[in-house]
Amino acid sequence: MTDHILIERQGAVQIIRMNRPDKKNALTRAMYAKMSSALVEGDADPAVRVHVFLGVPGAFSAGNDLADFLVVATGGEGGNEVWDFLMALAKAEKPMVSGVDGIAVGIGTTLNLHCDLTFATPRTLFRTPFVDLGLVPEAGSSLLAPQILGRQGAFALLGLGEGFSAERAKAAGLIYEVVAGNALEGAVLAAADEIAAKPPQALKIARDLMRGPREDLIARIKVESEHFHERLKSDEARAALTAFMTRKKAG
Ligand code: COA
Repeated sequence: MTDHILIERQGAVQIIRMNRPDKKNALTRAMYAKMSSALVEGDADPAVRVHVFLGVPGAFSAGNDLADFLVVATGGEGGNEVWDFLMALAKAEKPMVSGVDGIAVGIGTTLNLHCDLTFATPRTLFRTPFVDLGLVPEAGSSLLAPQILGRQGAFALLGLGEGFSAERAKAAGLIYEVVAGNALEGAVLAAADEIAAKPPQALKIARDLMRGPREDLIARIKVESEHFHERLKSDEARAALTAFMTRKKAG
């Protein structure tokens, strides 16, 4: 089991912390697997009432490990870990709160589209350079981002790959609150405690009503994944991924 994901319980709150600071919390297959199990097991455990996602100072996540993408781009095996995590996110039964500080790239941004409340610090930058990598939006973001940001905001984020500062993300409805760096985890955990104190059954029904049918989201994630895997093997993606992985050697 990887120690790049730390799972902790504080009362009824399950904290899932991404903890691979040397790689800015780039997510490996083992990290996805551990996060999926935590969500599924936490959902099944009546003692857990809310899931919290946190990163490390300066890095929520730099997105999928690009070395893993390159393996698939060059004909290797990708595994089911990302798919399992996306399903765990889409099917999560309990509220999810995230606290984002600094880097939030790719899934480091789109994960938050599934969260019920996201807090971010002023230095946070949300960015999804899928198209620049020769890829397409994932994690249901092609469905969720237009709902949240409107068509043009979603295009700026997912099509142009523009960075969204915390302030812009708040104005656009992508996040709930901007809080100072030293107040981030306190604010996230206070919100999680507040959620955990609500009547769970009423909260579950209210949340499900607000989210709408999961089938639509799951169907969209499936279509996105099909395109994504096809794109990973494209010349465009191979070139972009190779450029990133060899950039220091070349420079
Ligand atoms: N996959 C694999 N390794 C990654 C990574 C990723 N997504 N993001 C960062 N890293 C690694 C870097 O290669 C570097 O490793 P090294 O020290 O062994 O050379 C280390 O993490 C630190 O990253 P670095 O680029 O030096 O930090 P930075 O603060 O200058 O820049 C980013 C941070 C996130 C802006 C930059 O690393 C980046 O653009 N990463 C790719 C993000 C991405 O495209 N994600 C996928 C989206 S679908």
